[in-house]
Amino acid sequence: MLVVCRGCCCGSPRKHPGTDHEGQLARLRAAAAESDGRLAIRTSECLGPCGQANLVVVQPSGEGRRRGARAVWVGWVLSDDGIDDLLAWATAGGPGMAAPSPALELQFVPSPAEARARTRAPEPRAPR
Ligand code: FES
Repeated sequence: MLVVCRGCCCGSPRKHPGTDHEGQLARLRAAAAESDGRLAIRTSECLGPCGQANLVVVQPSGEGRRRGARAVWVGWVLSDDGIDDLLAWATAGGPGMAAPSPALELQFVPSPAEARARTRAPEPRAPR
């Protein structure tokens, strides 16, 4: 499952005028329609990290989840190559099942929960 953000910034021609946002979504939906149910596309309102628009969350399959995979957040999905890489990875099984392309891996971003955990101050130590 691909969750394609289409909130205030993702999919916005004002923010990214050089990207065919509707064309991206059409390509993703066409791939899902041809996948015999192996790939699903859902759109979402703003998922949070607008600075990394266009954002797509790649959900693991049931088997991927059983293998310990989690959802992967991919930012800056603006080019046709990015869509190619996303589709190749998702149709090969996605997180936990197949390796993403190195270029796509460079676009992985932390989810908002992961980002918060990374910036949280460490707990003060107990006095001895
Ligand atoms: S609009 Fe996509 S993260 Fe905000």
